Amino acid sequence: MKLCVALDLPSAKENLALANSLKDFDIWLKVGFRSYIRDGKEFLIQLKQINPNFKIFLDLKLYDIPNTMADAALEIASLGVDMFNLHASSGKIGMQTVMNRLESLEKRPLVLAVTALTSFDNDTFKDIYCENIDTKATKFAKDSFEAGLDGVVCSAFESLDIKNNTSKQFITLTPGIRPFGEDAGDQKRVANTKIAQEQLVDFIVVGRPIYKSDNPKEVVSKILKSI
Ligand code: C5P
Repeated sequence: MKLCVALDLPSAKENLALANSLKDFDIWLKVGFRSYIRDGKEFLIQLKQINPNFKIFLDLKLYDIPNTMADAALEIASLGVDMFNLHASSGKIGMQTVMNRLESLEKRPLVLAVTALTSFDNDTFKDIYCENIDTKATKFAKDSFEAGLDGVVCSAFESLDIKNNTSKQFITLTPGIRPFGEDAGDQKRVANTKIAQEQLVDFIVVGRPIYKSDNPKEVVSKILKSI
């Protein structure tokens, strides 16, 4: 299981300082809306300058018509990131179009589909998708698998079912992880690292429990020891 640290701090300076304090660890870094909209491509270059072995997950959750998503996917691939994502609810054709467009590249990033946001509880999810979260998350995952994606973003509680319905190699990445029972914040379906391991999760994403702590390096070290 790999650890992916969410760089969701309010400035590039703070995110770079955090990355710098974690430069000796074998980890992934997640760059989301906040950082990418504000700090752009230059920020990604700066992260790789801190440690060229840092892997970068660009969490922009694309959702648009197939051609527009495929154009964006090509632009993302040209940034040299290692992984990005889109919404499974953008549809199977859109996902296939993205994968077909990336096929021509010599090297492409991993592509994951978001099934259900971990901030949704079942009622909120059902209001939007008219189905229970667990069954629909697995259906979204099957669509993503059939469209040729590499994996999905899901809650730790859905990982095993998704793998059983697709393939053990189909990647699951789970946010909403509170390694040692920290405050959930806006997340509704939170799990600890033990649950993630039991569910054969490939990547855990941890944000606030790391960057809000007084000693992020110590928290990361503790998490890495426990996974
Ligand atoms: O601070 P916390 O550990 O809750 O951060 C989780 C990170 O994962 C945030 O950057 C959030 O945007 C992201 N994320 C999520 N749920 C998803 C996809 C991404 O929480 N389904």
